[in-house]
Amino acid sequence: MPSETEVPAGQIRPADSGGRDAFPHRHLLSIAHLKPWEIRFLLDEAEHWVGVNRGAAQKHDDRLAGLTQINAFFENSTRTLLSFEIAGKRLGADVVNMHAAQSSVKKGETLIDTAVTLNAMHADVIVIRHGSSGAVQLIADKVDCPVLNAGDGWHEHPTQALLDALTIRRRRGFIEGQIVTICGDVLHSRVARSNMLCLAALGAQVRVVAPPTLMPAAVECMGATPYTRFDEALAGSDVVMMLRLQNERMDGAFIPSPREYHALYGLTPERLAIAKPDALVMHPGPMNRGVEITSGVADDPDRSAITEQVEMGVAVRMACLDVLTRSARGVEGWT
Ligand code: NCD
Repeated sequence: MPSETEVPAGQIRPADSGGRDAFPHRHLLSIAHLKPWEIRFLLDEAEHWVGVNRGAAQKHDDRLAGLTQINAFFENSTRTLLSFEIAGKRLGADVVNMHAAQSSVKKGETLIDTAVTLNAMHADVIVIRHGSSGAVQLIADKVDCPVLNAGDGWHEHPTQALLDALTIRRRRGFIEGQIVTICGDVLHSRVARSNMLCLAALGAQVRVVAPPTLMPAAVECMGATPYTRFDEALAGSDVVMMLRLQNERMDGAFIPSPREYHALYGLTPERLAIAKPDALVMHPGPMNRGVEITSGVADDPDRSAITEQVEMGVAVRMACLDVLTRSARGVEGWT
């Protein structure tokens, strides 16, 4: 059986944890900081919350009661903000959302001032999304509580990678050895970066496909194999993860036109037939239907895991909020 499914639910110490009981990080800023056992540990914790969230009557668990969770979003978000809010509320925290338009935030001192302000309000956990890579680390260095990265620039989006890994593990049974093809605007995608690192750490074979203009240098360092031809990458794939063109991050023309992009890199039912017959289709959202993915694929209940990804997002964020606040809550073994 693959190693990531070996830890029975609720067991604190995964087999390869080196004997450590507790998650050894104060913040969750990137997947690059995590060891494979730490990733598996968070996924195992999230499994518990999937069950709780599916319960019809009672979704509440008040273990974060009395704690204040601030969601500071300097960039737009639907899924991530909502799921962090729902996750915090289901755990009983007092959740406050701070929306800051990107244009009103200057870098440097202003960001540090924001961090000092949040800290002065005695937040117990802060969730941050910011348009600049590294901004979340900057804030984490200035505050006294755990910080969760909800996406920083092109850099990382660790909870997205965790929810994607959980979705794959549940739908395919395991991650090790799975061929996962990530296609789209890899250059500007923090989702692609975190996913390459996470899935490679869990033993998947990761392929990334993009037009040459949208392929970052050295994806091999993140554990992935680059392709420019979609059909070549699709052959034998167990999972196909599609990404949106991040037009807001593009300075100039990176593709000839959306129509040509769709012809070469759009996922259609015909193209999906090149992958394994039961290959899973994923997308972090928001989708641009008719550009990177057609409705025939996105809405196919047998193949598409897109709504399940959203569901897993709440469970993964509950797990992360719970685990990162254990030390402050004085949970035995975590202090
Ligand atoms: C992604 C993001 O914001 O990085 N979306 C998300 O978190 N679900 C991907 C995107 O915006 O394309």
